[in-house]
Amino acid sequence: MGVVEEVGEGVSVVKEGDRVVMPFNVACGTCYNCLRGLSGACLVMNPESAGAAYGYAEMGPYRGGQAELLRVPRADWACLQLPGRPGDDREEDFLLLSDVFPTAYQATEMAMVSPGKTVAVFGAGPVGLLSAYSSIIKGASEVYVVDRSPARLERARSIGAVPIDFTEGDPVQQIKERRKENAVVKGSLHPEMKLDGVECGIDAVGYQAYGRQDPEEYDPAQVLSDLVNVVNPAGHLGIVGAYMPQDPKGRNEQERNGLLTIPFGLLWTKGLSMQTGQASVKNFHAPLRDLIVAGKAEPSFIVSDRVNIDEAPEAYAQFDKRDEVTKAVIRFE
Ligand SMILES: NC(=O)c1ccc[n+]([C@@H]2O[C@H](COP(=O)([O-])OP(=O)(O)OC[C@H]3O[C@@H](n4cnc5c(N)ncnc54)[C@H](O)[C@@H]3O)[C@@H](O)[C@H]2O)c1
Repeated sequence: MGVVEEVGEGVSVVKEGDRVVMPFNVACGTCYNCLRGLSGACLVMNPESAGAAYGYAEMGPYRGGQAELLRVPRADWACLQLPGRPGDDREEDFLLLSDVFPTAYQATEMAMVSPGKTVAVFGAGPVGLLSAYSSIIKGASEVYVVDRSPARLERARSIGAVPIDFTEGDPVQQIKERRKENAVVKGSLHPEMKLDGVECGIDAVGYQAYGRQDPEEYDPAQVLSDLVNVVNPAGHLGIVGAYMPQDPKGRNEQERNGLLTIPFGLLWTKGLSMQTGQASVKNFHAPLRDLIVAGKAEPSFIVSDRVNIDEAPEAYAQFDKRDEVTKAVIRFE
């Protein structure tokens, strides 16, 4: 996010001096996939495969976006114009349009969240918290957020979600217990025995999921398994948490080759739908900006820290602990 300093010859819409935010996706905007709203899988900008991004492994020759100056390919497509001026009171809300707010909103689309639905979000990082927030904006009737970080779970509670600490017991059972308190379930308006979980499940953790046997060790299949167990028959899963074709830090040969053991038979028997992959940020860019401008969305509630560029390494080290530092905003001053 920033102010346009200079435009190239091929740029006709964006002008010097415009205040803009860009998606983390680098995309052409015109290929077969981009034209049908799948810019996260653009067929042009990554010479190696589908989908390109700034500073992300195997997603094209683009350096990271956390820099004082950024060259923006296909700038007319990428740049979303913003009202106001740098440093105003919407700055942090607008900044989150570059990735986590649209990504989280897409997670709710993948999981088919709509008014009245019940939702379980695994992970209370930036993506998980904003998935819960997007679900609430869409009118979900109950939203559970699972994590182990007290600070992050507190932020979930602050927006009206129900925090579930997985160190206090199996989160699937905890959610099913809490659901019994719900008026719809209590009043037997739904057949409780068959619909004791939730309708929509969101994975905002990915392969770096802590296991339950040893919470200090990653178990990349943990959240996928929990979701299959907690989502009701005919429900929907949105998997925005990242998974890798190869994971050199995997615990065994299978994990190192990106092969995970999940209860696929149960998933199939329940008839769950599952969507995965990189978000196509552009689809939600302008509508979410407009919700912010209208005062109907304030995603910046996730921001915990503001640092200058020279403090960024320390902020990253703290963020890696996945607790107090939920989202650090880097300023270039
Ligand atoms: N699909 C996309 O386009 C896209 C875009 C942005 C981020 N992501 C991915 O989304 C995921 C979340 O991103 P983030 O920035 O919020 O990350 P994060 O690491 O800050 O948050 C993950 C949270 O999950 C929690 N967690 C770990 N194991 C858990 C478990 N077993 N059950 C419940 N919670 C558990 C952690 O404590 C942490 O708070 C990452 O995998 C990231 O790469 C995907």
